[in-house]
Amino acid sequence: MSIADLEKIAQKLVAPGKGILAADESSGTIKKRFDAIGVESTETTRRDYREMMFRTPAMKEFISGVILYDETIWQDASDGTPLVKVIADAGAVPGIKVDEGTEMLPGSPKELITKGLDGLSKRLPKYYERGARFAKWRAVIDIGAGIPTYNCIHANAHTLARYAALCQQANIVPIVEPEVLMDGEHDIDTCYEVTEWALKETFSELYKAEVALEGIVLKPNMAIAGKKSAKKASVAEVAEKTVRMLKNCVPPAVPGIAFLSGGQSDEDATAHLDAMNKLGPLPWKLTFSYGRALQAAPQKAWSGKKDNVAAGQRAFAHRARMNGLAALGKWAAAIEKEGA
Ligand code: 13P
Repeated sequence: MSIADLEKIAQKLVAPGKGILAADESSGTIKKRFDAIGVESTETTRRDYREMMFRTPAMKEFISGVILYDETIWQDASDGTPLVKVIADAGAVPGIKVDEGTEMLPGSPKELITKGLDGLSKRLPKYYERGARFAKWRAVIDIGAGIPTYNCIHANAHTLARYAALCQQANIVPIVEPEVLMDGEHDIDTCYEVTEWALKETFSELYKAEVALEGIVLKPNMAIAGKKSAKKASVAEVAEKTVRMLKNCVPPAVPGIAFLSGGQSDEDATAHLDAMNKLGPLPWKLTFSYGRALQAAPQKAWSGKKDNVAAGQRAFAHRARMNGLAALGKWAAAIEKEGA
């Protein structure tokens, strides 16, 4: 492993004004998204949909990397070009989700532990050979009555560190994603405390596993109120608390932090990122690694119809551009309307 090579890729993923497209929905999740727009989920429709995004010219300007699901990384575009080549030709780094979803955490049946470590050291070189230069692993932490438990925080942090060390050994940059869900009724301060706990434990485990922080990208949630909370926090409060929380937890050796959107509205996800970058200078780059907040609009515009490909690409380009501006702290609500 070369730390310099890993750092180069990590820096590329958080290049100024660019961010990551998380297009790594499992077959189950993409089916749910397609059901919502009345599209049958088949190998071909999934390919066509993702090819539409990867061939959007705005990729070159605003997208630094694309996270793929196992099925997609082996797929070819409709003209026979491997999708990883389409992505690389657009100047973006291909990446791969390597976790294998979640299962019940023994000892705490209401909580989840992410699986996929078994056999990972053998899978990684195959993904590298196919062109992947970074990977993703998502740990899920839920807030509710009596949870999260120490068992959940620790087991997931330890697993993230094992994964990250295996990735670096294979010359692959690990995206380390401890996601505190925004599903509950909790307020922003509870989210702050739980996320701080999860991040502290994660960095402690990364240290013990000898992971080089220069060669990772952190993918956290923002400090944000739960969806069912009685009190929604303002954009300014989310930005101020998230930056404070990160400064307390994330060493400056980490090149960048690429947020998940986690169920925020498209515009909230953009506004929050923008407000944080306006608080700079910051010790690391702050950008996006959005799934839903980049894809909800193009999915709707496309709706599975060939005739709608241009409209789908326009919708994707618009969200990519809005978030690219937010990554620089140069977005404004008024720009949303332009070209939307
Ligand atoms: P969302 O932005 O939809 O939360 O997805 C990002 C992601 O990759 C979650 O693992």
